[in-house]
Amino acid sequence: MKNLEFRLESYFCMYLQGMKIVIFSGAGMSAESGVSTFRDSGGLWEKYSIEEVATPQAWKRNPSLVQTFYNERRKQILEVEPNAGHRVIAEMEDFFEQVVVITQNIDDLHERAGSTAVMHLHGNIRMAKSSGPNSEKAYYPIEGWELKMEDRCPDGYPLRPHVVWFGEEVPMLERAQEEIENCDKLIVVGSSLQVYPAAGLIHCAPREAEKVIIDPNVHELMVPGDFISINKGAGEGLALWLSKYREGENEE
Ligand code: APR
Repeated sequence: MKNLEFRLESYFCMYLQGMKIVIFSGAGMSAESGVSTFRDSGGLWEKYSIEEVATPQAWKRNPSLVQTFYNERRKQILEVEPNAGHRVIAEMEDFFEQVVVITQNIDDLHERAGSTAVMHLHGNIRMAKSSGPNSEKAYYPIEGWELKMEDRCPDGYPLRPHVVWFGEEVPMLERAQEEIENCDKLIVVGSSLQVYPAAGLIHCAPREAEKVIIDPNVHELMVPGDFISINKGAGEGLALWLSKYREGENEE
């Protein structure tokens, strides 16, 4: 009997060690750092028009307006710090074999909190890319907050922010889907789930995976039936989930 118990225990430990958790984050993840969300009241899309600053047509029509909009976002991101929620996610790397963060956010707060596997679905505002053909060929780090119209890629095209605009393809989509398809736990945090194709990814988790959504306005969202809802902000909700998980782990 002891032997069986031992074998079960080692099997359980192996299983835990092999566990993969995917965090799918949106603008609400960075709200507690002081970064505006897009669609809450007072959010960015109340102050700016998507058509004027976040589409390829906007860049064609008025590139310096687009550049200024993203320069302001970059400046703000450089001034803020990761929050408690980002830190809890980074801490999860101590408890799970694999923690993959798939974020819609263009800020680098997950990385600055210490997460080591972060995939940016909608790009990274601290990087630039060519506005000419082959724009996904190379990304260039931006020194400081300002990308200027005279900054050029080696082929002579102006550099644009490395962000995915409305109407553009999401190059990381397939890789993100693969990560979610073989996760054991999926935690969605701080996204209104209104922007596709990104939002569709949350349906790709295996049936048996634990699925959780953390959002202080969770009742306003279209949440699939197999998700557990935590109606809290990112910092509090993530800490609560991790402490419950750890309590369960100690009881085993
Ligand atoms: N903690 C967690 N969630 C929060 C918090 C908080 N403190 N505060 C607000 N939220 C939630 C809101 O309730 C909302 O559901 O964050 C969500 C933010 O939703 P959106 O503003 O729509 O942001 P997101 O879903 O990330 O937008 C997707 O839209 O404009 C594009 O490219 C942009 O990546 C972005 C995409």
